[in-house]
Amino acid sequence: MKGKFIVLEGPDRCGKSTQAKLLYNYFLARGYDVLLTREPGGTPTAERIRQIVLEPGLDVRPMAELFLYEASRSQHTQEKILPALEAGKIVICERYTMSTCAYQGYGRGIDLKTIETLNQVATLGLKPDLTLVFLMSDKYFTERGEYLFSDRLEQEDLAFRQKMRQGYQELIARTPNAYLVDADRNVDEIQHQVVGLLTKHHIVEADAVC
Ligand code: TMP
Repeated sequence: MKGKFIVLEGPDRCGKSTQAKLLYNYFLARGYDVLLTREPGGTPTAERIRQIVLEPGLDVRPMAELFLYEASRSQHTQEKILPALEAGKIVICERYTMSTCAYQGYGRGIDLKTIETLNQVATLGLKPDLTLVFLMSDKYFTERGEYLFSDRLEQEDLAFRQKMRQGYQELIARTPNAYLVDADRNVDEIQHQVVGLLTKHHIVEADAVC
């Protein structure tokens, strides 16, 4: 694959959308051909699936939930991510396969082998070149979300969030090119670490570090 695939992961409200935008602008400012996208969603069909899977109050059983995320991923990967990578672009994606392992696997308790099989099918075997996992203290989930609308997954209880967070820690340890980013720090400190990791993985040149 000619391009580079960077995935930003982590619990809800961990600040990854802010970092994704900063990263997008970082690449744009240096003249890279870059695409910013997200899961679930990223294409018209996948965004429709997103509306269903995140609708508060809708009865979505765990296995159906898993298939909805994988359906979104399959469409998104084929329609948008793979063509962009083949064209040599940098693709920044908010969430990808690790979210499904953390939320549907560790959170809902679905067997990780089943999830990995479906991930493999939906991605056609595509793996990120770099996965950045933003983990913050749980108190920030409540503090940062006080005035925000909560989607169906954000309405899950503390026990669910703790299982999912623990899952992320285990997943980082066994995923190649995945790193924990301490998201309790300020935006600039976090971005500095992110750019350092891009350099380490030769996604940007060392002299381009800000
Ligand atoms: P977000 O776009 O605000 O991060 O919301 C997406 C929600 O969907 C978030 O709560 C995480 C959840 N999610 C899963 O449960 N499984 C998945 O595979 C993905 C991509 C997201």
